[in-house]
Amino acid sequence: MTDPIRAFRDEQRASIATYGEQTAWQGLTREWVTEAFAQRYMYNFDWLGRPLIQFPADIVAFQEVVWAVKPDLIIETGIAHGGSLVLSASLLAMLDYADAVEAGTTLDPANPRRKVLGIDIDIRDHNRDELDRHPLRARIDMLQGSSVTDEMAAQVREHAAGFQRVLVSLDSNHTHEHVARELELYSPLVSPGSYCLVFDTIVEDMDAEVFPDRPWAPGNSPRSAVREFLAANPDFEVDEQVSDKLLISAAPGGWLRRKG
Ligand SMILES: C[S@@+](CC[C@H](N)C(=O)[O-])C[C@H]1O[C@@H](n2cnc3c(N)ncnc32)[C@H](O)[C@@H]1O
Repeated sequence: MTDPIRAFRDEQRASIATYGEQTAWQGLTREWVTEAFAQRYMYNFDWLGRPLIQFPADIVAFQEVVWAVKPDLIIETGIAHGGSLVLSASLLAMLDYADAVEAGTTLDPANPRRKVLGIDIDIRDHNRDELDRHPLRARIDMLQGSSVTDEMAAQVREHAAGFQRVLVSLDSNHTHEHVARELELYSPLVSPGSYCLVFDTIVEDMDAEVFPDRPWAPGNSPRSAVREFLAANPDFEVDEQVSDKLLISAAPGGWLRRKG
């Protein structure tokens, strides 16, 4: 008899495998996403009280990846209002809770095992104040400064030293040079089987006019940096199963999995 769970997963995979060839649907998606940038659609959502600048489908996929990997440390570049840090903290809290249920132990909310580390060149006082008041604050560490300096990378490496399973998410400056440098500095921290997520790869698929006041554009984008990175780092691959199903996503081709 067919295993119904396996059958459902097979059906999902078969369906997703057709999306890339569906040119009409891909065209509609491109048009829709272009308009979403014009309307600032991705600025409209919160996670547990803090704004995060993400497409909802990317938030769901992030949850899927975190649940699959079960990292004990998430490193994020680009904090902004702190919503993505709170998202990570909440998922890590859920993983600690699941561990405690399985082990029959209790949690100490003041001393969480799993943590998120955020890096931003400019952590605004009002955002820091809001995060300081957040119930998940004990899971969140923050470093202020540019993510691409040797000093910052050394601090991050030192912070990561005590953790076993690390996931990295890059969402700061979206120029080719910046993302290439972040990949160089932080991809070595990604554990085998875990991910280095690169946001705003979508820039490569949009017209340059979509980002009139930004230094990034097609050809100078996270996607161009990812392409270069993958050519030189065969131990990473795009998880197409995640990447291809989302369509309305800021990170097409940006779900990089370290093999192993
Ligand atoms: C797109 S926002 C981050 C959004 C956040 N991850 C979220 O989902 O809500 C980009 C952030 O990157 C920060 N940033 C820009 N250049 C940076 C750099 N060189 N180093 C670290 N952070 C930087 C900006 O200050 C801004 O807060």
